[in-house]
Amino acid sequence: MPEQTLAVLTLEGVRVTVPAGTTVLAALQNAGLSPLRRSLSGEARGALCGMGSCSECRAVVDSQTVRTCLTPVRDGQNVRRLMEVNRES
Ligand code: FES
Repeated sequence: MPEQTLAVLTLEGVRVTVPAGTTVLAALQNAGLSPLRRSLSGEARGALCGMGSCSECRAVVDSQTVRTCLTPVRDGQNVRRLMEVNRES
């Protein structure tokens, strides 16, 4: 069996190790970090399409807002949900 390559990143300040090739969205969901953000009226929002069409999975990765369902994990990434970023601003 081939050895699995891993990536170490930070989700909301917590270091996690996930298989390389995982999307940031999967890493967030597997860590139980849901919802990803809140609507202007305060409703919980999260990934819908999983293929880059809806933009509901946006989060901040290394200071850039990205669609997490299209973003592969990389070593050293710093990931924050928009609701956490907005809470602090
Ligand atoms: S879940 Fe729809 S763009 Fe990512």
